[in-house]
Amino acid sequence: MACALPDPQNCIILDDPTMKISIHPLGPDLHLGRVTLDRDLATRLRTSFQAIAAHADAFTDSFYNRLFVAAPAVRPLFPADMRAQKQKLLAMLVWVVENLEQSEDLKARLRELGQRHEGYGAKAAQYPVVTKALLAAMSDVAGATWNADTEADWRTALERIADVMLGRA
Ligand code: HEM
Repeated sequence: MACALPDPQNCIILDDPTMKISIHPLGPDLHLGRVTLDRDLATRLRTSFQAIAAHADAFTDSFYNRLFVAAPAVRPLFPADMRAQKQKLLAMLVWVVENLEQSEDLKARLRELGQRHEGYGAKAAQYPVVTKALLAAMSDVAGATWNADTEADWRTALERIADVMLGRA
């Protein structure tokens, strides 16, 4: 197969039949001419998520605190009692991290999540605010395991999640 990528070196990766995935489902699109570090990214996300999940309550508390400070207008969209919501958000992230290689399942479930969000009144312009609050909350609880590389990995993943939820990918 001819190499369609700007950097032909990447085609060595794409043509390797031993690889379970060559393009990470949460990575930038191939048609944009960019290729992610595929399996390595999935491994790194899983590893760093352990440090976040170990402080699940602190993570979800921090996330919604930050979200409601950054975007007070979204607070009324959520229930007064946020306990169930915090558990749902965490469960969804756990599921995503466990299913990073299941590209079709991942996309289908995230798209459904995005469609439900239309019903909740979520707007596309609010997704970057959510991404920023999630990254900050992760940084709050992940301790010494958090650094610029970890943040870049999660930014890639969360932006991609938002794109799929919004039907853009
Ligand atoms: C990366 C983006 C986001 C993720 C991963 C996410 C995740 C979730 C999850 C897992 C739920 C539980 C309910 C369900 O599964 O349908 C939920 C509910 C909800 N989300 Fe999001 N969300 C995101 C972005 C947003 C944005 C941008 C808004 C804007 C306001 C928002 C507002 C809400 C609201 C209002 C609910 C429902 C609360 C309720 O009535 O119980 N979300 N979200």
